[in-house]
Amino acid sequence: MKRIKKAVLAGGTIAALALAGCAVEPGTQGGGSSNTLTVACGATEEWCKAMTDAFSAKSGIQTSFVRLSSGETVARLTATKNAPEFDVWHGGPADGFGAAMAAGLIEPYTAENAAKIPAKYKDPNGNWTGVYVGALGFCSNQARLKDKGLGLPQSWDDLLDPKLKSQVSTAHPSTSGTAFTTLWTQVARLGSEDKAIDWMKKLHSNVLQYTKSGTAPGQIAGRGEVAVGLVFSHDCVLYKERGMTDLEVSFPKEGTGYEIGGVAVIKGGKNADGAKQYVNWALSAEAQELGPGAGSYQLPTNPDAKLDSRMVDLNTIKLVDYDFAKAAAHKKELTARFDAEVAAQPKE
Ligand code: F6P
Repeated sequence: MKRIKKAVLAGGTIAALALAGCAVEPGTQGGGSSNTLTVACGATEEWCKAMTDAFSAKSGIQTSFVRLSSGETVARLTATKNAPEFDVWHGGPADGFGAAMAAGLIEPYTAENAAKIPAKYKDPNGNWTGVYVGALGFCSNQARLKDKGLGLPQSWDDLLDPKLKSQVSTAHPSTSGTAFTTLWTQVARLGSEDKAIDWMKKLHSNVLQYTKSGTAPGQIAGRGEVAVGLVFSHDCVLYKERGMTDLEVSFPKEGTGYEIGGVAVIKGGKNADGAKQYVNWALSAEAQELGPGAGSYQLPTNPDAKLDSRMVDLNTIKLVDYDFAKAAAHKKELTARFDAEVAAQPKE
């Protein structure tokens, strides 16, 4: 029996597990049992718990999850490729799924409900299918900006203002899917990787420190430790709603990047049938409508799922032409360049 650190056992008690014939302890996985499922989950803990609890209740499959940032998931899947610890990857930007696919970590699967999902939100070969969409935004602490004599940033270059020295928080693209979206957005809007790296070098002076998780910069800005956090706008909306009332979202006028949060079956997982059921369910309107109740305001990809007024309206902002396949293909090499040429460099 294999113990999964940090795993949260969702939707069940020891008694329920015993009834299901699985001799497992809380926080453990019943290796090989077809009545358990383990999800690598890339969104917030609250969303991951809501999803896995609901799936457990619906299917009777005891489903646990581990919350991981996108780059961490690919690293964990790679390290355990010969004895996978996860059955499903749910949540996190699609470029991470593309990288996992290229590394042979994903089992292609076209679920019945994938037919509902627009073509622009899924991999044509069924390697991953989109479950939500989110836009990258500036999550600003208005009081901190006022102290600096600045208004809400309206352009990427507003972040380079010397008045914002050590006043910008962003995650590191090797761990965070949010931060990789930020990096590739610069490639998309500026036209080349060299130009993107040059722009990130300029931003570097204003970055307090690079966080591991993509959502952290929103909270750092919410606490007033910096003036601007670079996050998906829905995370900023959540933190404001939960009491960080100085926060406000704005979007860059040149265009911003966006994510398609994915779901996929892990190659060689212990419960392939359960994984397929989970993926099919995650694409349903019923599953996607659970988001707002768990404080997650990404847009659903299933057109039948209800929208919430707290979700971003993509018609009101400008998006860059974000090529997910190209971004995934360049993720490893571009992240290594960021490491060496930006993050490791002293600040001016
Ligand atoms: O709400 C959580 C979220 O912003 C998701 O929309 C996104 O897919 C994920 O976090 C990215 O997390 P990370 O940047 O830590 O990989």
